[in-house]
Amino acid sequence: MGRKPKDSIVKKVKHQKLKKIIQAPKGMPDILPEDDQFRRKIYKVAHEVADYYGFGKVELPIAEETNLFLHGTGATSEIVQRQMFSFKTPGGDQLSLRPEFTPNLMRVYLEKGFFNLPKPVKLFTYGPLFRYEQPQRGRYRQFWQYDFEVIGDGDPIYDALTIQLMYNTLNDLKIKNLLVEVNTIGCDNCRPIWRKNLKNYFHSKLKKLCSDCQRRYKNNILRILDCKSEQCQPIKENAPKMIDYLCHDCRSHFKSLLEYLEELQLPYEINHRLVRGLDYYTKTVFEIRETDDNLALCGGGRYDYLVEILGGRPTPAVGAAVGVERLVEILKNKQTRVTDNSQKNRLFLIILGEQAKKKGLGLMETLRKANINVAESFGKDSLKAQLRQADKMNSPFVLIMGQKEAIDNTVIFRDMKSGVQELINIDNIGEELKKHIKNFIV
Ligand code: HAM
Repeated sequence: MGRKPKDSIVKKVKHQKLKKIIQAPKGMPDILPEDDQFRRKIYKVAHEVADYYGFGKVELPIAEETNLFLHGTGATSEIVQRQMFSFKTPGGDQLSLRPEFTPNLMRVYLEKGFFNLPKPVKLFTYGPLFRYEQPQRGRYRQFWQYDFEVIGDGDPIYDALTIQLMYNTLNDLKIKNLLVEVNTIGCDNCRPIWRKNLKNYFHSKLKKLCSDCQRRYKNNILRILDCKSEQCQPIKENAPKMIDYLCHDCRSHFKSLLEYLEELQLPYEINHRLVRGLDYYTKTVFEIRETDDNLALCGGGRYDYLVEILGGRPTPAVGAAVGVERLVEILKNKQTRVTDNSQKNRLFLIILGEQAKKKGLGLMETLRKANINVAESFGKDSLKAQLRQADKMNSPFVLIMGQKEAIDNTVIFRDMKSGVQELINIDNIGEELKKHIKNFIV
């Protein structure tokens, strides 16, 4: 049971009208009908790819124990330090709205004993996430991702497969100009040496770095490398690169990955500054960008220690996620026609009078069964108002049922462009209409 609002508050707001309309919370946009066709297509493509590559779908709770993210996403990550929506339940549990899916899927893997399944275990999920960001284009406080994780195999072939399948989802959505950026950030053997060299390098330049990077110098030095501020760009220019410090294992892992990417003919580039913002990554990190908008659509990498950190046995894993809102934005900008389920260009059904109103709803059902898309504005009484609505919706054809037609079991079919009208019997309306308006069949 949730906690009830205080009685005094309830009393105060009772019978009180609000003076202004309540707005959606900042950075948490409504998903409106105009986006629906794009989101449905994205959902479909993600699920098809998941099925093809054998990923099992998991639907996760919206909130998890805060500890999962403190340990999983990582205490030094920006997400944990500044972006979590955390709260205490009435029972005293400390929970957070999920800011990502990776630790949550590892929790499922451990809690549900998936480690007993043949490896690798492939999991997929889709849904909303929450990060307290400064809202801007492509960055929201509530946003959606689809996420794929491959758990239990350290072979670089799975890094390549993950990149390939994420790329495939974008490609299937007809998003052009994609570029895969890859890097390696080593492992617990070699990364400390790189980190030490980075500390030495930035030490004398500390005052010239932006205030965020001065903080990062202390608790997350790698992140200085992908800072976007102008002021830090020239300072990073000659910073030590991980590739020069890799241990044998990490070097051969990265080399094999690049060979696979060549083999797959994926457009990729090595970006030595790519480190990613989550604490759990080891070896491979990557992003897929749309080069026109320079938006990171997909981010991922290998995280061979996370399962162990969360209490399991050492288990290598790799995965990635795509941001749905960024895809929608690109699809919309490019006016990509996905499917036409919109209210526009439909056959418009006009009914006039009580008798026709009664028959109108039944007629709509008959048309639905015949797979014919119909729009209406049954609430409007006059022929003029309904025709105006049909015009607004660009309906090229209209069906009109008045009192007489309702009694005769007929309907008038009208071609809006030519104005030509024809009387059709309702009994066989599906077949009759199909002759006239082939392109309205779903
Ligand atoms: P991420 O890079 O934080 O990685 O997010 C992946 C994608 O989600 C980004 O490339 C972007 O498209 C989208 N995204 C992130 N934050 C926002 C936001 N505030 N508003 C809109 N879109 C956003 C992860 O979340 C990792 N868990 C990915 C992963 C899976 N790594 C291994 N497995």
